[in-house]
Amino acid sequence: MPQPAAIESGDRSHALPPVESVAQISSILQDADPTLDPALAALARQAAAEGVVLLRNDDGILPLGDRPTAVFGRVQYDWFAVGYGSGGDVKVPYVWNLTAGLRDAGVAVDEVVAEQYRQWCAAHRPSFDGTWGNWPHHFPEMPLDPAVATDAATRADTAVVVIGRAAGEARESTLTPGSYFLTADERAMLDAVTAAFARTVVVVDAGNVMDLGWLADYGDRIGGVLYAWQGGMEGGRAVAAVLAGEIAPSGRLTDTIAWRYDDYPSAGNFGDPDVGVYAEDVFVGYRYFETFAPERVQFPFGFGLGYTTFAVEVAEVSDGAGRRGEAGDAGGADAEIVRILVDVRNTGAEHASKEVVQVYVGAPEGLLAQPARRLAAFAKTPLLAPGEIARLELTFDLRDLASYDDGGVTGHRSAYVLEPGAYPVFVGTDVRTATEVAVRRVDRLRVVRQLSEAAAVDPAHAFARMTRGRDGAGRPMPAWEDVPTRTVSRRARVLDALPAEIAPTGDRGIRLDNVATGDATLDAFIAQLSDDELALLARGDVTMHSPLGAPGNAGVLGGVSESLREKGVRPITTTDGPSGLRLASYASLLPSGTALASTWNAPLVRELAALHGQEMVRKGSDVLLSPGMNIHRDPLCGRNFEYYSEDPLVTGRMGAAVVAGVQSAGVSACPKHFAANNQETNRTRHDSRVSERALREIYLRGFEICVREAAPRTLMTSYNKINGVWAHYHHDLVTTILRGEWGYTGCVITDWWMEDAVDPDFPDLADNAYRVRAQVDVLMPGGVKTDAGPQAYADDSILASLARTDGLTRGELQRGARNVLGLVLALAPVIDARA
Ligand code: BGC
Repeated sequence: MPQPAAIESGDRSHALPPVESVAQISSILQDADPTLDPALAALARQAAAEGVVLLRNDDGILPLGDRPTAVFGRVQYDWFAVGYGSGGDVKVPYVWNLTAGLRDAGVAVDEVVAEQYRQWCAAHRPSFDGTWGNWPHHFPEMPLDPAVATDAATRADTAVVVIGRAAGEARESTLTPGSYFLTADERAMLDAVTAAFARTVVVVDAGNVMDLGWLADYGDRIGGVLYAWQGGMEGGRAVAAVLAGEIAPSGRLTDTIAWRYDDYPSAGNFGDPDVGVYAEDVFVGYRYFETFAPERVQFPFGFGLGYTTFAVEVAEVSDGAGRRGEAGDAGGADAEIVRILVDVRNTGAEHASKEVVQVYVGAPEGLLAQPARRLAAFAKTPLLAPGEIARLELTFDLRDLASYDDGGVTGHRSAYVLEPGAYPVFVGTDVRTATEVAVRRVDRLRVVRQLSEAAAVDPAHAFARMTRGRDGAGRPMPAWEDVPTRTVSRRARVLDALPAEIAPTGDRGIRLDNVATGDATLDAFIAQLSDDELALLARGDVTMHSPLGAPGNAGVLGGVSESLREKGVRPITTTDGPSGLRLASYASLLPSGTALASTWNAPLVRELAALHGQEMVRKGSDVLLSPGMNIHRDPLCGRNFEYYSEDPLVTGRMGAAVVAGVQSAGVSACPKHFAANNQETNRTRHDSRVSERALREIYLRGFEICVREAAPRTLMTSYNKINGVWAHYHHDLVTTILRGEWGYTGCVITDWWMEDAVDPDFPDLADNAYRVRAQVDVLMPGGVKTDAGPQAYADDSILASLARTDGLTRGELQRGARNVLGLVLALAPVIDARA
């Protein structure tokens, strides 16, 4: 859900004729849709290639160059270009497969093996049973006769084995062969190939982290491992370019790869249909592993190899005022800024490449439990030729690493604090090997921001959360403490924040274009709107594929009635996102979120998103339902491919890059799903129970960075509950935190349809009235959802509540209208519907 009933479903990669040469691309694009831009495809290829992570490269087995190479595994043809669901359902004009890409890159592909796979794949088309959420995690592998491998080894000196996986919306990865684990046929293929070849490279083409523990079983018989995140229509060619050496790999992991699934701190608390207890608290991903279980890490966060070597030298560490050395907090605000200059030199002789420099910060052991390291800054060099040097400047503000005291242990409840002591600063190329280059000292406890408690755990649902303890030998080990629970009255807070009503004037002939030109105020415009019109602005045009927007759209909001259009409010068309425009027409399929994040190259992501924004303009999309910004809390979450990382800084920076890029074209991005939408299982009913501290420091932090840095014009709430309240009803989340603390003034929309409920504090408010009170401005696509599924009508819960003495106020409805009309005004000059 939502099941795109009428949408012309996007073609899947396996159904497409393979592209055989670059020369074809322009004409394919031209035939499919002349508005598709070859420059976007070219940049998508660059981004997909930069997102490939080289995990192992023994004895320089890669690049392949022109060495004769036999490629095994059906995924070489049936390439997974993207995951499933709204985020991948793009009508894509073409998809490169790996074998075609390798040929294009000049690799001497063993054609005997290639032909065998081609024929087998043609005879065994992957099957989709057609129902939403039942897509295959893998395609059954061609059983490989070991003799084929031994025979191939007489012609080729290197083997490439390709393993593929996909998951998606309403489709978690599972702890089964063919999803998280290898199948027996895949193992047999690896056994046969590694027995026959002295040199074997494994390529994993997947949207999620899958088990790689089996690499240990093959020892040095597998010399190269490349994790290729789903890279969109150009992904196969991009991976081929990396294998061939045309583009050197410079991707870095945005998630920790643990030896076993059970090693992940979320493992016991993922997938329950009703409740997700975020017991690991702030110890998510590397924050857990580096603190408590470094030995359980197979490949650390931030890790990735290349084809060359780099010398990374810290040239200078100073504070914001340029003072070097160890600044205490006596230096004023500037002392909290840490500025690091790093010289990076390509010390290899052959390959031009890029390096990613990462800065991590530790924290003193104080009253609030702290992970051993947290990412504070990162930057990527330009392409450096052998011998070439680049100076990177990495800056962070220690105050951004303050911790939120949700229980008052420091004496400052509901405040971000820096506890006194030493904050070591580490610089390096992954979380594990980064070395200490400086120490920042905080002399006495600093209250960085005093806020008020919001979205805390319901006392009826208290749980024990992870904190930092010590074992007998003094080594850190997880300990448990009671999670702080809610103490504030939501009712009082809501009543305090009720907006004043703008006195209704009736129609005075003011049109929205008069507001755009400065000839009238927005309030004067809103004063004219009837209650009916205000209620219409609070919902979309009822169904997906609205006739008011481009065919195949996800829904339309704004000018959904004749009377609103007559006043100059135009219909605003939304489309999915994130990996391409989900429309009935052809659109570019771009690298998935994880692939983009693994580039660690925010400027490149921004550039790509800017071209994507231009494609939106050409195709009539106003709002791209992207970026997906939920945290990779658990490797099984089906939508991880759409999201970026287990780390909130990477998530926030990448999200901000996408928003800034898309919006540079005059349209809107729409970060989603706000918030804590970290599993697909029963996502519309699931309750994410999470401490206020973990919520703020991990799950909201990426959104906060994105909102503050890039000001998205639209933002989407999630389906799930957060501490017992559905996101689309969450006053604390949307009014107190997003709008109040972060200053967000854009338009907030729901995820598609919502769950009915009565406001527990205001029984005269139900459903849409309850939602509008939270300042979730627009129900999308607008219709009611019943047990039988989405309906093609809207409800009257807003007007019914408005009529009651203790119901929704007109002022609240006008406030929501202001947010919607602000979006319409920001997007484009108002079109005169009567002209
Ligand atoms: C998804 C959203 C998507 C929306 C519209 C929902 O099911 O969760 O991410 O944007 O549908 O297709």
